[in-house]
Amino acid sequence: MVFSGSEADTITIATDFARSLTRGDVVVLDGGLGAGKSVFARAVIRTLTGQEDLDVPSPTFTLVQTYDCFIGEIWHFDLYRLKDQNEIFELGWDDALSGGILLIEWGERLGGYLPKKRKDVKFMRHSDGSRQIEICEVGYGD
Ligand SMILES: Nc1ncnc2c1ncn2[C@@H]1O[C@H](COP(=O)(O)OP(=O)(O)OP(=O)(O)O)[C@@H](O)[C@H]1O
Ligand SMILES: [Mg+2]
Repeated sequence: MVFSGSEADTITIATDFARSLTRGDVVVLDGGLGAGKSVFARAVIRTLTGQEDLDVPSPTFTLVQTYDCFIGEIWHFDLYRLKDQNEIFELGWDDALSGGILLIEWGERLGGYLPKKRKDVKFMRHSDGSRQIEICEVGYGD
């Protein structure tokens, strides 16, 4: 569990985390509206692409946005508006799973399709606006 007192803190935490990622990793960003999921995802994408000013819009309406980086293709999903979990296959889900790096906001929309092996990044907001960020690996075995 790490403390983030500001957006800048979250960017630092995400930048460190990004350096640990490899091809095939699935990162599920969890936390309510405005928790900091997109801030975190943007910092990961900028780190992995090596482009610190890269425009990384939240894929609110397109639901997915891809980026090339030196370890593979990054797939940034925002599934808030996913109506049916089967819609995921129209968004390139199978291609994403075959060697991409996945950053998923609102992963609970996937129900049973949520990968069993993943890295969960959970944001908890305090009343003063600061966050606790918990990162845990799920399904990696002992
Ligand atoms: N400690 C913090 N970490 C991250 N963001 C913070 C922090 N403190 C304040 N903020 C602000 O909170 C907002 C987080 O927005 P962001 O788009 O990342 O949320 P989100 O979790 O992706 O929401 P959504 O579910 O709508 O996609 C930003 O405006 C950011 O400046
Ligand atoms: Mg977002």
